[in-house]
Amino acid sequence: MIIAVDGPTASGKGTIARALAAHFGLPHLDTGLLYRAVGRRVALNGGDPDCEADALAACSFPDKMLTDPELRNEVSGGLASRVSVHPAVRRALFERQRGFATQVGGAVLDGRDIGTVIAPEADVKMFVTASIATRAARRFREMQEAGRDVTLEAIHADLATRDARDTGRKASPLVAADGAIRLDTSQINREEAIAEAMKLVEQARQRAG
Ligand code: C5P
Repeated sequence: MIIAVDGPTASGKGTIARALAAHFGLPHLDTGLLYRAVGRRVALNGGDPDCEADALAACSFPDKMLTDPELRNEVSGGLASRVSVHPAVRRALFERQRGFATQVGGAVLDGRDIGTVIAPEADVKMFVTASIATRAARRFREMQEAGRDVTLEAIHADLATRDARDTGRKASPLVAADGAIRLDTSQINREEAIAEAMKLVEQARQRAG
């Protein structure tokens, strides 16, 4: 079974994808990490994330880079959002994601274009959303807990910029896939979101027979 979970930053898609993977005993890939690794690699190389050639050269990052805690911070998120607009970068990362999605037994992948580009044949496609105010507040809390010096306003502005870039880009823009089940997590907590996602996956599986 392939489960595709797409949605904007801090919508809860990562939490949901991890929970679904654990519940159904499937491997999970957070595809945002790949773009974050490319973004960070460009910065470490002294390159320009807005230059397609520099970003493409950074796509051959070593696997061990995916465990770098620096990938989780907002700077890496912003760089990822910039390198991910380049079609050559998306093509370079395609096979890795496609191979993961089509492995024997299935997989759960979360990102922006899993249901539209990476695995349009996924058995279950989910599009997880939440209002920008909710997402900014969530991210702010996480950052505070991690001891980072950030303001809610700065996070809100950063999310708005990244949303505009993700939805407005020509290559694989963030959009709900045909047939995707929508899950809005604005008014529900983490446990409720996970329970709802499990229910929706079970229903989709029953429908598919
Ligand atoms: O999900 P996460 O916040 O880690 O993703 C970082 C950035 O990587 C996103 O803002 C988006 O621009 C890009 N991305 C993408 N396609 C994916 C996953 C992430 O373009 N499948």
